[in-house]
Amino acid sequence: MKQIDVDTLRDWLENGRPVTVLDIRNPEDRAQWSIPGSVHVNAYAALKAGDPDALQQVELPADRPVVTICNAGVVSQLAAEQLTERGIAASALTGGMKSWSLAWNTAEIPLGNLTIVQVRRAGKGCLSYMLASDREALVIDASLDTMVYVRLAEQRGWTIRYVLDTHVHADHLSRSRALAESTGAALLLPPQDRVRFPFKAIQSGETLAFGNAKLLAIATPGHTEESMSHLVNGQALFTGDTLFTSSVGRPDLNTSGTEAQDRARTLFRSLQQLLQLPGQTIVLPGHASQPPAFDKKPICDELSHVSSRIAAWLRSEDDFVRIILERIPPTPPNYSRIVELNEAGSLPEGDVTDLEAGANRCAVA
Ligand SMILES: [Fe+2]
Repeated sequence: MKQIDVDTLRDWLENGRPVTVLDIRNPEDRAQWSIPGSVHVNAYAALKAGDPDALQQVELPADRPVVTICNAGVVSQLAAEQLTERGIAASALTGGMKSWSLAWNTAEIPLGNLTIVQVRRAGKGCLSYMLASDREALVIDASLDTMVYVRLAEQRGWTIRYVLDTHVHADHLSRSRALAESTGAALLLPPQDRVRFPFKAIQSGETLAFGNAKLLAIATPGHTEESMSHLVNGQALFTGDTLFTSSVGRPDLNTSGTEAQDRARTLFRSLQQLLQLPGQTIVLPGHASQPPAFDKKPICDELSHVSSRIAAWLRSEDDFVRIILERIPPTPPNYSRIVELNEAGSLPEGDVTDLEAGANRCAVA
């Protein structure tokens, strides 16, 4: 049986190699998360039931291979077998969507003497960033294997000087501590007493220089108490989970009683502060709510556009708190265990895809 691993499929998609990605899952599973550009056929039940004609109706371009996708990489093998029997070059994605969690792609944003690479965890929507000026780089919110960032820096001749997290994450394991350790870079976190490992606290108002660029830290509590945003060269704003391109961060994780309400109030004030920045400031958020496509187009927008999308929520503090608390999405799976590990600064050995399973749910939807 022919199989293809996540790294190979990721590479094909990133480099534009022709391939048909055929998702055979139930519509409910596909609605949770999918591979950008994939074709869907609802054949999971028929394949599982042994129907030899489960894929008979599917028309596929003959000039490219097919990669079949299911949840865990088992039923997709039956699909690949049926297609192979029809003379189509088909293979199944090893580990299915579960393994796809760690797939990623990139988009670049050149800004004068500064290059920003948005490193998108395509399998989960977490957005991390590499910023470089004059060959000195810093990484914000590393959510992928540390080697991803190390290789991207090597390919471009960059040295990673700083690694930052905007806050203690609840939806993915932070790779920032490990990345700082493996590269010798300084680990910078917002001031807080949550994590139990050494780091350098970056204060609100403090400026960090790398190459010819400057990064200004701005405390933006609300999503979490320590949440911080960063403005580079007065042009681009890294908002973590405080502000997304069309929504805001949820204020309720790790709270009890009326704490979420208080945090929503704090978030309102932080947002008001960010919205004072010039309208052409580029907002670069910590998450995407849709699977980031392999299109090399950055997920970002001008602050003026973001602001107009959420204006109705921001009419008054009381309205904001009411609207936000009404719209809180379901709690992400395993978030308390992920927070615990991020506070301890430890990455579990082996496969973490079960622990990190599911799309991110950091935004108020
Ligand atoms: Fe978060």
